[in-house]
Amino acid sequence: MPVNAVKLVYFSPTHTTQRIVESIAQGMDIRPLSSLDLTLPPGANQTLEVDRDTLAIIGVPVYGGRLPVVAVQRLQWVLGDGGPAVIVVVYGNRAYEDALLELKDMALARGFVPMAGAAFIGEHSYSTTAMPIAPGRPDAEDIARAMAFGQQVRARLLQTSMVNLPPLDVPGHFPYKERRPAPASPPTPTTIADLCTLCGRCAAVCPTAAITVSETVITKATACIACCACTRACPTGARVMEDPRIRQTATWLYENHSARKEPEIFFGDRG
Ligand SMILES: Cc1cc2nc3c(=O)[nH]c(=O)nc-3n(C[C@H](O)[C@H](O)[C@H](O)COP(=O)(O)O)c2cc1C
Ligand code: SF4
Ligand code: SF4
Repeated sequence: MPVNAVKLVYFSPTHTTQRIVESIAQGMDIRPLSSLDLTLPPGANQTLEVDRDTLAIIGVPVYGGRLPVVAVQRLQWVLGDGGPAVIVVVYGNRAYEDALLELKDMALARGFVPMAGAAFIGEHSYSTTAMPIAPGRPDAEDIARAMAFGQQVRARLLQTSMVNLPPLDVPGHFPYKERRPAPASPPTPTTIADLCTLCGRCAAVCPTAAITVSETVITKATACIACCACTRACPTGARVMEDPRIRQTATWLYENHSARKEPEIFFGDRG
């Protein structure tokens, strides 16, 4: 199958998904390689068409066993032309449930032909030093696995024509797991004023533009998706996720989902 270029398409507030899709592309070693980072809010409505000779690697983290709503909305900007796609979800060592199936369906609906899929593990957004959940992942082993997956995809592309691509089957159920309704007061990070230098870094990395920095840091709770991009990016440790509901979830994850899980990969023939 002729593939002349690779396009990475990802949503990745804490960069684990980004690292995985970049490593898959590195293993694939097809140039030119370009990226569409859907993490930050758009300056304007945008559409991106991916031509049929380009392989798309589409990466999204798992939120509540599904794709994050904002990522689903932003994937609507991307339009394939019947070309191949590799679909990848990254989850925090609990479970990916219906997210990979949802991404497969989404890729099909956007005009791609999903030819391979994977579920990788990334450090959980709610992991802390005191309560580590998949700390440091993706680690060297995960990166090596992602690169090897890239090489396998490349080999498949060389062996198969588009018409002969076996349909991809991935775990998951439809109807997908129901999303939990948003609470009246959503959990949101807070700012320790004494540590804050008002540098604005948190606002710059927020995927939903929920933060305004002026004389203090103001967070619009209804816009916050609790992704922890701001707490990870804050250079002084002033931005913290201390909402008791999140800390309770983190404790539960630490106690019940600390055993290491391994990446899974899927090809059309289960190869
Ligand atoms: C709101 C929210 C919900 C999450 N839900 C799940 C989940 O259902 N299963 C899981 O294993 N990890 C879950 N995670 C953890 C992320 O999937 C994981 O940390 C991932 O590596 C984040 O990707 P990113 O670094 O690209 O942002 C959740 C994280 C957040 C912020
Ligand atoms: S990144 Fe940290 S120090 Fe900078 S404005 Fe935000 S909370 Fe304050
Ligand atoms: S304010 Fe909420 S949505 Fe914005 S970066 Fe922080 S946790 Fe993510």
